[in-house]
Amino acid sequence: NWTMVNIVDEQVERIRAQVGSKQVICGLSGGVDSAVAGALVQRAVGEQLTCVFVDHGLLRKGEAEQVEKDFVAVTGADLKVVDAQDRFLAALEGVSDPEDKRKIIGREFIRVFEQAAREVVAEAGAAGEEVEFLVQGTLYPDVVESGGGTGTANIKSHHNVGGLPEDLRFTLVEPLRELFKDEVRRVGEELGLPAEMVWRHPFPGPGLAIRVIGAVDRHRLDVLREADAIAREELSRAGLDRDIWQCPVVLLADVHSVGVQGDGRTYGHPVVLRPVSSEDAMTADWSRVPYDVLATISNRITNEVREINRVTLDVTSKPPGTIEWE
Ligand code: XMP
Repeated sequence: NWTMVNIVDEQVERIRAQVGSKQVICGLSGGVDSAVAGALVQRAVGEQLTCVFVDHGLLRKGEAEQVEKDFVAVTGADLKVVDAQDRFLAALEGVSDPEDKRKIIGREFIRVFEQAAREVVAEAGAAGEEVEFLVQGTLYPDVVESGGGTGTANIKSHHNVGGLPEDLRFTLVEPLRELFKDEVRRVGEELGLPAEMVWRHPFPGPGLAIRVIGAVDRHRLDVLREADAIAREELSRAGLDRDIWQCPVVLLADVHSVGVQGDGRTYGHPVVLRPVSSEDAMTADWSRVPYDVLATISNRITNEVREINRVTLDVTSKPPGTIEWE
C-alpha cells in the first residue's frame, strides 16, 4: 500500500543515506515544490539543513510570511531570509520589456542566492563542517523532460534561474524526482505544511514583475498585490481553487481609464483577470467563472484599490494567447 506515509518514510531514509553527516542547503521560492522538498530534508537531517529564501519583493500578498512564519513553524527549519527587495527594484527600474525583466530577475536571483550560499558555506566551514548538498524540488515530469540524468551541479529551480559558479558546486538532493505534482501536494499535507502553501496555484519565478505591464515600481507592485489578493480570496471562497489552474491578475500600468468612483471622476488603471483551466500549462482554456463571482471580484477591487477603476476579463485560449501577458 503505497501511501503518503510510505513515501515520506522512504524518502527520509534515502536522504539520510545520501547526505550522511554533511551539510545541506535548500533554496525556498515560496512555491510548493521547494517547500515540500525542504520539509522532507528537514525531517530527514534537520540539524544539517539551512534553508535560504530570497525575498525579491515580487511575491504575492502573504507569501513571504508563509515561508518566514508558517514553513518555519511547521518544519522547525533553520531559515536564512535575504531581503533583496530594494536591489531587485533598483535593477528593474524603468524596464518594461518582458524578456529584459526576466533576464534581470534571473541574474539578480543567482547573484543574491550565490552570496547567501557562500555565507552558509563559510559559516559551516568555521564550524568545521562541509556543505556538499543542494536540495532541488525536481519532479518526475521535469526528469522525463530533461532526459532523466541526475545532476551534480547547478540550480534549476525556476526556469529563469541559470547555474551556480564552478567553485560553488553541490551534489543535488532531489527527493521529489519520482513524484507527480498531486503526490507532492499530498506529501506536503502529510508533512503538515499549510493548505495555502500546498495547494497554491503555479506562479512564475519572475513573479508580479511580469504582471505589471509597463515598468515595475514599488507602488505598482503594491496596487497589483492588493487586487491579486482579492481575486484569489474570492475564487477560494467560491470553491474554485481546484477547478482553475491559475488566475493571473494583470495590471495595465501604462493604460489609463476614466471612471466615476465615490465623489467624482477618476483616471485610474484597468486590471485584467486571466482565469485559465489547464492540465499542464502547454495549452489552456479561459475558465468559465460564474458571473456572480466575477461581479464580486470586480466590485471589491474597484472599491478597495483606489488606483483601479476598471476590471476586465481575458477570454482568450492558449494558443493563441499565453497564460501570462508577458
Ligand atoms: P505561459 O505564459 O507561457 O505560461 O503560457 C505557462 C506557465 O509557465 C508560467 N511561467 C513562468 N514560470 N518563469 C517561471 O518560473 C517564467 O518566466 C514564466 N513565465 C510563465 C506561467 O505562470 C504558467 O503557469
